[in-house]
Amino acid sequence: MLSEKLREDFPIIQKYKDVIYLDNACTTLKPQVVIDAVKAYYEEYGGCAGRSAHRLSRLVDEKIVEGRKRIADFLGAKAENIVYTKNCSEAINLVAKSFDFSKRKKVVGTILEHHSSMLPFEIKALRKEIELVYAKPLPDGTFDVEQYKELIDRDTALVAVHHTNNTLGTKNPVREIAKIAHENGAQILVDAAQGVPHSEIKFQDMDADYLTFSGHKMLGPTGIGALVAKAERLEEMPPFLVGGDTIEQVKTDSIVWAKPPRKFEAGIQHYSGIIGLGAAAEYLKKIGMRNIEEHEKELGKVAFELLSSEQKLKIYGPREAGKRTGIFTFNVRGITPHQVAMMLDKMKGIAVRSGVFCAQPGMDFMGACDGAVRASFYLYNTKTEIEVFADTLKKVVQIA
Ligand code: ALA
Repeated sequence: MLSEKLREDFPIIQKYKDVIYLDNACTTLKPQVVIDAVKAYYEEYGGCAGRSAHRLSRLVDEKIVEGRKRIADFLGAKAENIVYTKNCSEAINLVAKSFDFSKRKKVVGTILEHHSSMLPFEIKALRKEIELVYAKPLPDGTFDVEQYKELIDRDTALVAVHHTNNTLGTKNPVREIAKIAHENGAQILVDAAQGVPHSEIKFQDMDADYLTFSGHKMLGPTGIGALVAKAERLEEMPPFLVGGDTIEQVKTDSIVWAKPPRKFEAGIQHYSGIIGLGAAAEYLKKIGMRNIEEHEKELGKVAFELLSSEQKLKIYGPREAGKRTGIFTFNVRGITPHQVAMMLDKMKGIAVRSGVFCAQPGMDFMGACDGAVRASFYLYNTKTEIEVFADTLKKVVQIA
């Protein structure tokens, strides 16, 4: 387990001593180093990057270059693989809009995708621009490679799947899926919004063509995320949003795009966010992603052990400890998910999310058509917090 001392790094944890924050799959709290990095842009650097020759602008340039390098190092990628976006959703939209579907039109997704990784393709499928098919999970909500072997074929253009599921916390075998995709001449897009914050990701080893994530789920600021893509993919794709700084040359009748990643980063960027995201990556790296993953798994195990025998609880996802991570999704028979969430908050200040978690087809598939309750753990949560959560939930169950 990680040391509880790191809780001192988080001002919100210090401020709200009576809150147990278990809504980390939605967004995470920020350590002081990230808040300081964001503030430093406004208090110490100012200026815009990549445009002006004056010293403040050059200073911002340096910080942006440093931030891109930090993110690249953190993900086992190169700086030129990183395109900044507003969030993971924008990064997936970028790929969906710019991908060349002229030769092959089939996209393979899964029924458990987050809406952000489903809608950009579903909208194209509804317009008959592509064909979209969905892999279905095994009864415990996990996928095996056989699912993908059946669906990915020589007509497949793109496989668009999650790294870690946002409703169950289960992991997809992405490296194997990438191999199947490539053997069939298809490309793969990995939605790693719940993967990058919780697992050690090595982009080059994974062999994904595209990987996307958001900063705010990994201790970073809101409004910043990225597309990580192989250099050749960024070369061949046209830009999605266009504007200032995306070009090498413009005439009224011709455009020469800038080299990637610049051609994808239109307009003044979220500088404070980029700098804050770099600080978040450094912070996580120092603690160690494997240590964080183990910590969350342990907390997940504690929750499952304390609660799995409750008859009135319906717990979603696999029962084997090895397959579970730090996401615990459930329903209490006889009470709606929102009521359960409000009771947990009122009784012990426990913050969880209730609803369909932006994954309605997946929730329907699991039989949770009216939603569920999700407790999601991160590096600053403690075993004691999980015990309080379990105790309080048992009381809720008794009332139901
Ligand atoms: N994607 C976020 C979640 O799963 C918002 O809660």
